[in-house]
Amino acid sequence: MVQPLLELRGVNKSFGVVHVLHDVDFAVYPGQVTALVGDNGAGKSTLVKIIAGIYGRDSGDYFFDGKKVEVHGPRDVAHLGVEVVYQDLALCDNLDIVQNMFLGREEKGRIGLDEIAMESRARETLASLSVRTVKSVRQSVASLSGGQRQTVAIAKAVLWNSKVVLLDEPTAALGVAQTRQVLDLVRRLADRGLGVVLISHNMGDVFEVADRITALYLGRVAADVPAKDVNHSQVVELITAGRSGDLGISENPANASV
Ligand SMILES: Nc1ncnc2c1ncn2[C@@H]1O[C@H](COP(=O)(O)OP(=O)(O)OP(=O)(O)O)[C@@H](O)[C@H]1O
Ligand SMILES: [Mg+2]
Repeated sequence: MVQPLLELRGVNKSFGVVHVLHDVDFAVYPGQVTALVGDNGAGKSTLVKIIAGIYGRDSGDYFFDGKKVEVHGPRDVAHLGVEVVYQDLALCDNLDIVQNMFLGREEKGRIGLDEIAMESRARETLASLSVRTVKSVRQSVASLSGGQRQTVAIAKAVLWNSKVVLLDEPTAALGVAQTRQVLDLVRRLADRGLGVVLISHNMGDVFEVADRITALYLGRVAADVPAKDVNHSQVVELITAGRSGDLGISENPANASV
């Protein structure tokens, strides 16, 4: 069994009186795409924000490369090599691709920023991910299509020698061809040895690229299985009912007393 690159054990999280995550165990393996699935409000984005260091956790441990680590904020997480691409992407429309990719981490040249170095690294990173649809790295992000923006956001995440990349619904707003591009990119990241987490509501996307599937149901892990061991309708059942045959949560937590 391969050791997870990143692992959370026994995570609980409440917002006020609302208990959102219950004893969640979650693992990300090198070279694999782990799909994190669950209905609206299941707790996927909350889990991702805990991994990203944006939210603290009420309990539970955070492991990286097999070692327990203390994570106090997004900086600690970036140091570990964990990057998150959020659904709203957080790109600046008025800036070009290079400026976006280096935002907040500009390379310092002897005089001001080293534009040439940044530009060539941006170009190399896009090329290494076989991104060919972006014409110029000096194009403003406002002029890009949804798929191209997603590509730039992912390239930005891998520019920093990341080891784990989490993508929150990267294909939600995309058409068929753009979804294709992004899924290919997701697969290539894993093939480069990164641990990739894909949050998606689209079962087609999940089965196309995922090696493992972790299903959340009302803030609990209903299943954590190799993708090849389950089919489409089993995953849909896990998402909507928390169980499917032998898999899932034995007692429906929706009926449990609190
Ligand atoms: N900052 C917050 N304050 C209070 N409640 C929150 C907060 N963030 C999330 N929640 C609640 O936690 C639960 C899980 O939300 P979360 O955004 O993690 O779900 P999700 O699985 O990402 O759903 P979706 O598929 O709709 O994106 C929801 O009931 C939500 O209302
Ligand atoms: Mg979400």
